[in-house]
Amino acid sequence: MATPTVDRGLEDVVAAESKICFIDGKEGRLVYEGYDIRDLAEKSTFEEVAYLLWYGQLPTRGQLSDLSKRLESLRSLPVPLRDVMEHLPPNAQPMDVLRTAVSGLAILEPAETKPGPSSIGGALRLTAVLPSIISAADRFRRGLEPLPERPGLSHAAHVAYLLSGKTATELDVRAMDVALILHADHELNASTFSARVTASTLSDLYSAVTSAVGTLKGPLHGGANERVMAMLREIGTIDRAEVAVREKLARHERIMGFGHRVYKVEDPRATILREWSRRLGEENHDMRWYDLLRKVESVVHQEKGLYPNVDLYSGSVYTLLGIPDDLFTPLFAASRVVGWTAHVLEEYNDLRLIRPTALYTGPTRLTYVPIDERVAAEPASAVPR
Ligand code: ACO
Repeated sequence: MATPTVDRGLEDVVAAESKICFIDGKEGRLVYEGYDIRDLAEKSTFEEVAYLLWYGQLPTRGQLSDLSKRLESLRSLPVPLRDVMEHLPPNAQPMDVLRTAVSGLAILEPAETKPGPSSIGGALRLTAVLPSIISAADRFRRGLEPLPERPGLSHAAHVAYLLSGKTATELDVRAMDVALILHADHELNASTFSARVTASTLSDLYSAVTSAVGTLKGPLHGGANERVMAMLREIGTIDRAEVAVREKLARHERIMGFGHRVYKVEDPRATILREWSRRLGEENHDMRWYDLLRKVESVVHQEKGLYPNVDLYSGSVYTLLGIPDDLFTPLFAASRVVGWTAHVLEEYNDLRLIRPTALYTGPTRLTYVPIDERVAAEPASAVPR
């Protein structure tokens, strides 16, 4: 029998049919339900994109208004969840709190979690409430009460207010709207895949989103923009940038915010966020992040031929919006929850248990040795996997 080939990281494996999102990694195009991300980022809003991803078409004015009102009505934290969050250790990572909170909601709101088309109710609820959870997590750890809701704000304006604690300007709100649109979906990325795997067992929507939050947390996926800002702060000034980046590359360190599994050219989301980083920098008379990023970008491209991904400029945008570094990944989740839930709904609609196989590389016919007759293993072989 021929030995099967192993696609490590499932790199060339097509694991699902989907109508939600298309990426052309060679052309650098990202498309939601047929619409180019550049058009959506310029002309649309997060609520409109959420409708598009959940229902497969752009909403009419009436449909958009209904969705916006429903989202606004679903923003509050349930009291028992608030109580649990208040008692979590103040040094808990916001992504860990978010994962715990989504999991807790599944118990508190079981009606929203039934597998099947009714899960759209859960999708709306999670999208509306995630920013409130993230904001409350940040406030509780600082010994503060959660911020009161502000009625009448769009989703982006409410997110900007909740995460920065201040009233956002019109430009800030538009920047937030664009960032939310750009992060809403990205085909079978790691966290979406993990949501679909969970849903494919006929588990519920909130469990699928809990899996996805845990997957997004990793620095190779959602955690990169936070590390980009840490790198910029470590570099400090533009005159140090070239040497610092070259030293990192010489130590074979990965430079966060560069490279992508699918894009072989510039990630179109990076192109849009670069422009927003510049616009917000100019508005705030603070070009230091933008200038540093441009320098880092040119050195990395020169040295490694790598292009920026979505995470290179997003951190600078969020910093200029007044959002703390460790809320960047939770904010990513607050947008991607739309994509996760759209994919879970698609999975429920055409369900097939996702269960790949592994190429076994160990022995198969060892003889069991009674414990008293075993010889102690070498220390090296006793290391956990
Ligand atoms: N810095 C330095 N070198 C890099 C980087 C990077 N950011 N990215 C890739 N490379 C190099 C690798 O070292 C490797 O070089 P080699 O062939 O000489 O060993 C080559 O490029 C190919 O890299 P792979 O890891 O095989 O590419 P893969 O497709 O698996 O990786 C990934 C994609 C994980 C995103 C990678 O580019 C990376 O680690 N980037 C930094 C983390 C990051 O920015 N993540 C955010 C991604 S976007 C998102 O999830 C929202």
